[in-house]
Amino acid sequence: MNLQEQIAKRRTFGIISHPDAGKTTLTEKLLLFGGAIKTAGAVKSNKIDTHAKSDWMEIEKQRGISVATSVMGFEYKDIKINLLDTPGHQDFAEDTYRTLTAVDSVIMVIDCVKGVEIQTEKLMEVCRMRNTPVICFINKLDREGQDPYDLLDEVEEKLNIKVRPLSWPISMGKTFKGVYNLYEKSLTLFQASRRQVLDEQIQIKDLNDPKLDQLVGKSYADQLREDVELIEGVYPDFDVNDYLEGKVAPVFFGSAVNNFGVRELLDTFIRIAPKPKSRQTEEREVKPEEDKFSGFVFKIHANMDPKHRNRIAFIRVCSGTFERNKPYLHVRNNKPIRFSNATAFMAQDKEILDEAFPGDIVGLYDTGNLKIGDTLTEGEQGTFKGIPSFSPEIFKEVINKDAMKTKQLEKGLNQLMEEGVAQLFTFEVGSRKVVGTVGVLQFEVIQFRLKAEYNASCEFSPMNFYKACWIASKDKKQLDEFVRSKYRHIARDKDGKLVFMAESKAWLQMVQDNYPEIEFHFTSEF
Ligand code: G4P
Repeated sequence: MNLQEQIAKRRTFGIISHPDAGKTTLTEKLLLFGGAIKTAGAVKSNKIDTHAKSDWMEIEKQRGISVATSVMGFEYKDIKINLLDTPGHQDFAEDTYRTLTAVDSVIMVIDCVKGVEIQTEKLMEVCRMRNTPVICFINKLDREGQDPYDLLDEVEEKLNIKVRPLSWPISMGKTFKGVYNLYEKSLTLFQASRRQVLDEQIQIKDLNDPKLDQLVGKSYADQLREDVELIEGVYPDFDVNDYLEGKVAPVFFGSAVNNFGVRELLDTFIRIAPKPKSRQTEEREVKPEEDKFSGFVFKIHANMDPKHRNRIAFIRVCSGTFERNKPYLHVRNNKPIRFSNATAFMAQDKEILDEAFPGDIVGLYDTGNLKIGDTLTEGEQGTFKGIPSFSPEIFKEVINKDAMKTKQLEKGLNQLMEEGVAQLFTFEVGSRKVVGTVGVLQFEVIQFRLKAEYNASCEFSPMNFYKACWIASKDKKQLDEFVRSKYRHIARDKDGKLVFMAESKAWLQMVQDNYPEIEFHFTSEF
């Protein structure tokens, strides 16, 4: 198979949802269809057990388990599907944001009872930054949920994306009958089954066919006729290009736990989801079909065992063919680097991999050379863009507890930040170091790991910041002037970029009004 065929065969995507909407369950059903697992219950949820919600050691252990399921590769109808897992715990939201930079599309799971929830809104914002195509799966139709029209309106409103239903439910909850596929014009009847794969589809080309009344009963059949008429009237025809440009999200209804509606989703997914897309470096657009290999690191998972201090760096292949043992250029260090134990992840298994193609994810064992955002190439300079840092929500100052171990503390902090555990901001005045995170758990993680791995001790002192804003201006003089006048609130991020530390929303607004020439960004790339 040549490179072109390998690319055409691949689909790399992530499933996102608010915790509990059914991401793990849907993942498992997709793997069952792909034959990657044999029985339900085989996929370990990366969700953190309720009793462990604030016990980060327990969480790390569970995260350790979920490394194996970070990437799940499987084949379905000759398509190689790479499903990237995203952490369920909201304290690890940064991990999810970064994972989304390595996918070409997304399936979003929404609970029909709860509707669009806050985590989904945040994740959708990240998708919108890159116009990632989204398919929506409205789950748990076996429960009494919200009215499907209301759900669609809510998605459009809260997620700021147009929707186009491609299937439609016939009732819900106890009286749930099934879904009508508007695209294929076929009916799938609901039968609760947690384990088997049900896929009986009944062709109903004409909704006036009396067979429909026999199958679901006259009143439900009439309701469906009305609904379909309304949908066809209200929503424009589905245009796959609108989906590919991230403008319209096709919507499916189903029940993941009952394996219902999942096959329709998967069949449509492989038909319409984008194959590996081009990626932008600082200099140019890199196309997947280019001969020469290139890729970037989007995730690093550290080994918590101090006896084995290696980490796994996850690379997304962007172009050409990745080959094991071949030296590649590590662009940031401008040095060659070679990997003898590149790993591919296939559902629950991992195996040594000899070559990988655009869209594939390769796990590389690393002793500390790689960091998030690093680019590997066959010699070309230029770093891939699109792996921004997002403004954290909680800030604490690092207080060194052992002056004899200052070097260790610095080294440890830097390495942990490179893994993406948290973000470090160093104030221009007094070099005070402030760690910013999305969740509180990271502070415990950092403290423990600094002690265990670097023999450094620190404490955290809370700081009252609202946001870290990356600042820029077309007018260098104005920027210099701003930095001078706000010097007590100016820090640098890990890459030395200027950051304004805003204490409150109102104050930030005031500063923004007073300095119209200064741009304030909530992500590090703009
Ligand atoms: P997550 O990864 O998005 O956090 O969600 P997960 O798949 O773990 O699902 C959360 C809960 O919702 C699970 O119940 C799961 O069984 C249930 N669920 C998933 N899909 C459906 C569905 O279509 N209908 C209904 N009624 N429930 C669904 P749990 O009680 O937490 O676990 P379990 O004991 O049932 O496995």
